[in-house]
Amino acid sequence: MKIFLDTADLDEIRFAASLGVIDGVTTNPSLIRRAVEKRGGSISMEDYIKEIVKVVPGPVSLEVISVEAEAMIEEAKKLYRLFSPYGEVAIKIPICPSMDGESNVYDGLRAIRELSALGIPVNVTLVMTPEQALLAAKAGAAYVSPFAGRIDDYIRDKMGMKRGEDYGKADYYDFELVRKIAEKRVEKVLESKPASTSKSLYLDEEVKSVASEGQDNGVYSGVDLIARILRIFRNYGYRTEVIAASMRNARQVREVAELGVHIATVPFYVLKEMLVHYKTIEGVKAFAADVVPSYRKIFEENP
Ligand code: E4P
Repeated sequence: MKIFLDTADLDEIRFAASLGVIDGVTTNPSLIRRAVEKRGGSISMEDYIKEIVKVVPGPVSLEVISVEAEAMIEEAKKLYRLFSPYGEVAIKIPICPSMDGESNVYDGLRAIRELSALGIPVNVTLVMTPEQALLAAKAGAAYVSPFAGRIDDYIRDKMGMKRGEDYGKADYYDFELVRKIAEKRVEKVLESKPASTSKSLYLDEEVKSVASEGQDNGVYSGVDLIARILRIFRNYGYRTEVIAASMRNARQVREVAELGVHIATVPFYVLKEMLVHYKTIEGVKAFAADVVPSYRKIFEENP
């Protein structure tokens, strides 16, 4: 599996690249904003992005800012022309750049198709359903980025949990436990309506509402979203690579790696989380305490 770093922070990118474990970088306007704020607003953006592209041993995803197809295509060409001479660049296009669900609904597909036909690699972003991913692949996308963490947030929000109060951004979402809870709750409601017919139970508002908990239209978690996209792509031999995005913790990364996802893009803190374990620390300390002087001497006496 390839690992991309999900950041626009040059210090983090340089450090991770020096460890030899990252194969690319993904940015978005929010990540760029964070990097600018960290530097007190004083950045020559063009030079800054050139430097990122030079440092990274793989594609750097840069996002367009418009929502109309023609404007996105022009921006994508501009980004590609400016930065691809310094390294690999992919252009992020939102799958459906609509702000109201009515306007600009098809503009993402039009931009993906045209840019892909020109040989510009497109990373289709803000993918929240398998069917969006399928359309992106059909339009010729090089990558799709399903947002696992945001789907986990959405499902938790639908269950009445609040981020920041009931769970933290980086908290693992235990979808298997949630599934068990949902099944139990459905059973309880069904038991409370023993005399009903199948039709009346199926159409019962309380049953319907409890049965729809813990999922988003048949997607049970961010990891489940990625599993479904991979299954669809494998069914039909699509060559579009799946980037597991909006990764929030190490366990999520493990789960998408088990699925065989092509790429996971991870924030810098997740890299650390993938390394640190209590028993590893304990072991390091125990080995350090057990070193006998004669063994230490080997290192001290042999320059
Ligand atoms: C990456 O391509 C996405 O922009 C990013 O992973 C979003 O992550 P977030 O949901 O944690 O903001």
